[in-house]
Amino acid sequence: MKSKAAILWETHTPWSVEETELDDPREGEVRVKLTASGLCHSDDHSVKGDLPTGLPIIGGHEGAGIVEAVGPGVRRLKEGDHVVMAFIPACGHCRWCASGLSMLCDYGAIIMEGLPIVDQVARVHARGVGLRQMSMLGTFAADVVVHEDSCVKIDDDLPLDLAALVGCGVTTGFGAAVRRAKVEPGDTVVVVGTGGVGSSAVQGARIAGAETIVAVDPVEYRREQAKLLGATHAVASMEEAMPLVTELTRGVMADKTIMTASLMTGDMLMPLMLLTRKGGRACLTSTANPNILNADVVLVDVIFGQKEIVGNVFGGCNPHADIPRILSLYRHGLLKLDELVTKTYPLEQVNEGYDDLLNGRIMRGLLTFD
Ligand SMILES: NC(=O)c1ccc[n+]([C@@H]2O[C@H](COP(=O)([O-])OP(=O)(O)OC[C@H]3O[C@@H](n4cnc5c(N)ncnc54)[C@H](O)[C@@H]3O)[C@@H](O)[C@H]2O)c1
Ligand SMILES: [Zn+2]
Ligand SMILES: [Zn+2]
Repeated sequence: MKSKAAILWETHTPWSVEETELDDPREGEVRVKLTASGLCHSDDHSVKGDLPTGLPIIGGHEGAGIVEAVGPGVRRLKEGDHVVMAFIPACGHCRWCASGLSMLCDYGAIIMEGLPIVDQVARVHARGVGLRQMSMLGTFAADVVVHEDSCVKIDDDLPLDLAALVGCGVTTGFGAAVRRAKVEPGDTVVVVGTGGVGSSAVQGARIAGAETIVAVDPVEYRREQAKLLGATHAVASMEEAMPLVTELTRGVMADKTIMTASLMTGDMLMPLMLLTRKGGRACLTSTANPNILNADVVLVDVIFGQKEIVGNVFGGCNPHADIPRILSLYRHGLLKLDELVTKTYPLEQVNEGYDDLLNGRIMRGLLTFD
């Protein structure tokens, strides 16, 4: 069938919205009509070359929609089901999935290749060329063919447009605080970079019972939004956070720190660790360019301060368990999603959406489809 999608043909070029030809779903696959797709910063890392990505590729990995067609052998989904697409599939039977760590599913290793799990043969074509799909999803498209392992069925009465955000950013940020940093009641938490992911970490910290949440972001609008979502204090830089956190904690420093800035570089680790108290935990969430092999820390501070540094992929969440759980928090008014979406765009305006994101004019932009 004919559809349309935003394609990255080469790095450092804009998204190109074009007509595409979409194959029928094959073994274990479904075709989903997209309702919405969030504009996550990671897609821009592919544009800038900070995240090695197979090309040409359809962007987008934060989507939700309705199953329209079901391929042979699909067991969990049927036509009409509402689904959120998870940016890492969960096969259910690799060592990691089987032990409750499906965010580490072996399929995660090939998501940036963007070719179907089953046969690595492109399902979408434009200009006579096979296209890859970001995270094996490619949600900057009116329709996608994806594996059922990438789909999480959700209740029909949930707003499908907002649910898209839970396919990556909200889950990654919420889980950064709740699952990886393990925020506890009474904690002081510092969140560095409060865009879509970081502001969800702020919310996760609030829900987990943090007493003090310091948002760090150079953009004033993002600091204001972080305060509306639960931050108790906001400053423009980690340097500015040092005296504030020292004063707030009487020199103890933060129990938990979370790095969710646009891009992490090696020089950002030392200030993060100095903001973290002895015995505390720092959760690294931002993407880093894989060519960066070194980061600075004061070794004795980390060693004798007995500090922990933990990584984070997809918030340490199991999509089939945690996506419905996070949406349930939304349903009960505990987690805010409406407030995260500043602006919606048609697919044709995806580049304007990223311009707004990169210039700090929006929290999360959402592509919406008719
Ligand atoms: N680990 C994962 O599984 C995972 C998943 C999704 C996104 N990410 C990554 O998380 C990061 C955040 O994504 P996002 O969509 O929220 O981006 P975003 O653009 O919405 O937000 C990033 C924020 O960081 C701020 N910032 C930039 N430099 C800063 C600095 N030095 N100090 C403090 N704040 C700074 C920006 O002003 C912005 O508000 C990106 O690197 C993205 O690729 C990781
Ligand atoms: Zn993302
Ligand atoms: Zn698996």
